[in-house]
Amino acid sequence: MKIANHKNITYTKAGMFEETRFEKIHNVIFTESNAASVLVAKEIADLIREKEAQNKPCVLGLATGSSPIKVYEELVRMHREEGLSFANVITFNLDEYYPMDKGNIQSYFYFMHEHLFNHIDILPENINIPDGLVSTEDLYQYCIDYEMKIKAVGGLDFQLLGIGRTGHIGFNEPGSHYNSGTRSITLDHITRVDAAPSFLGIENVPRKAITMGIGTVLAAKRIVLLAWGGNKAEILKATIEGEITPEVPATYLQNHTNTTFVIDEAAASELTRVKTPWLVTNCVWDDDLKLKAVVWLSELTGKPFLKLTDKDYNNNGMSGLLTEEGTAYDLNIKMFNKLQHTITGWPGGKPNADDSNRPERASIPKKRVIIFSPHPDDDVISMGGTFDRLVEQGHEVHVAYQTSGNIAVSDEEALKFAEITKSLCPECEETQSIINFLKIKTDNDIDSVEVRQLKGLIRRSESLGATRYFGLKDENVHFLDLPFYETGTIKKNNLSEEDIQIMCDLIDTIKPHQIYAAGDLADPHGTHKVCLDSLFEALKILKPKPYMNDCWVWLYRGAWHEWESYQIEMAVPMSPDQVLRKRHAIFYHQSQKDGVMFQGGDSREFWVRAEDRNRLTAKKYNDLGLADYAAIEAFKRYHF
Ligand code: F6R
Repeated sequence: MKIANHKNITYTKAGMFEETRFEKIHNVIFTESNAASVLVAKEIADLIREKEAQNKPCVLGLATGSSPIKVYEELVRMHREEGLSFANVITFNLDEYYPMDKGNIQSYFYFMHEHLFNHIDILPENINIPDGLVSTEDLYQYCIDYEMKIKAVGGLDFQLLGIGRTGHIGFNEPGSHYNSGTRSITLDHITRVDAAPSFLGIENVPRKAITMGIGTVLAAKRIVLLAWGGNKAEILKATIEGEITPEVPATYLQNHTNTTFVIDEAAASELTRVKTPWLVTNCVWDDDLKLKAVVWLSELTGKPFLKLTDKDYNNNGMSGLLTEEGTAYDLNIKMFNKLQHTITGWPGGKPNADDSNRPERASIPKKRVIIFSPHPDDDVISMGGTFDRLVEQGHEVHVAYQTSGNIAVSDEEALKFAEITKSLCPECEETQSIINFLKIKTDNDIDSVEVRQLKGLIRRSESLGATRYFGLKDENVHFLDLPFYETGTIKKNNLSEEDIQIMCDLIDTIKPHQIYAAGDLADPHGTHKVCLDSLFEALKILKPKPYMNDCWVWLYRGAWHEWESYQIEMAVPMSPDQVLRKRHAIFYHQSQKDGVMFQGGDSREFWVRAEDRNRLTAKKYNDLGLADYAAIEAFKRYHF
């Protein structure tokens, strides 16, 4: 299997190698999205310079959304630091919501100016973005003109794309025709759900959009599609390996001869060569890959590990593994034990026990522990049971809430508290100004500093409710309020030295033996990933300190995903009573109950989600042949 940081992204055709034989679109898998974005930006910059040398315009088709943000950031950097000029560049954006005012912060017009156009020397007349306010009568002709304008400048030299979970490119939703041109379209429900967070609720997401067509995109001379994160894994598999179908419009790209998908490992995780490499090539089998394969075989056949037979292995592309291991019997027992040893009721290590087959050390019986929680409720949602046990087993537990989480508190909730405060203190002017602000606030307004402060305080006292319930002293609760988060909008700043310093200071003060953190590696631009990056940076800096030799880092998954069974290195089972205690702790986060602001596509409340997930992890272990627990929380170790 080849997964690498490729220096050059133009290489062999899809399907040329045994392992890519299921693939119909050329793709390159990167370990992470930043390095990949830099290479894509370089390809664009090279093209701009090449065209400039020929005295020709360079015509770029551009996308919005989270996927291209780092590419734009790198282009801006090249403009500032390397003198890359955009004077010969003409751009056409793929789409715009309809209706949509240019001045609206949710418009793609705003997005493009914020991320790219305001920072480079492109001529304003060379920027083309569909106009979200064109009248319905003029719309038809407007779309034809947009199309003609692209043709008039010689067609698109390069088209940058993202992909939606529906398989849309641009806003060409399922059902789009192969030959379609620029037109208005009705957005798919899933697309609107995905856009809901930035519109603060699905009811605010427009139902329509103007989009370039599939035909428009396919006419580009070169196409690069970007996809990051596990959310895109299923649709990428369907696009790259499936049949061409209007149900997955991105599959039309299979017919384009100069397309590359630039994707990260999480987005690639469903591709056959990544998910089940033993089906397409001879594998070098290490213990992790063996476990992955045996879990897969067990799930495929519906048999627990210890009932898998030689025939099961041979019939499912794993004869190579069997030859190496001898018999199914030996391999089954080996893998059963490997998984069994991940289970422990002692997440801080079991004092005075033989720990050779336990996930944590018995030594240092009372450990200092920091639980990093990106938002002020991820600790209890994602590892409430383990948190409870660590305190109960006498460890010195600290919780560090990395961000204030203020943006996820609704205006109604804030108004409620402001009005209560006002009743207690009628002469408080600041409270009155908060009430005044909230009463006249419109969708485009960013919260004032005082409102943000109030919203942050609401989340603080909810967190303290939960940590006190678990018996933690208030002085062990740390509110870091990392500055990168404090923009008042969905878009956050990049990590700064100040953020990393705050993380370092806390770790350096506590000198922990265990750190728990949200390991949402598949969430390239989300808050969890930035919080994780802040930890990784801090660990790099602190690594030389002697106390770090005793520090182990365990990653839990945020509210949305769970580790796969084969990835789990510590599984902490919970009794039915512990499940209830965890539920109770989550209930303290009142502002995040009942129709929370950033629900995403899952309408279950957080406590239901957490319980379903922990029950499912337990069931998966049970299906593989291990003991039947009510619930399990799962962790993977991070070696720094
Ligand atoms: C944006 C666009 C869309 C996005 C797609 C992925 O102009 O046309 O097709 O590329 O929805 O969005 P992100 O990158 O936010 O996942």
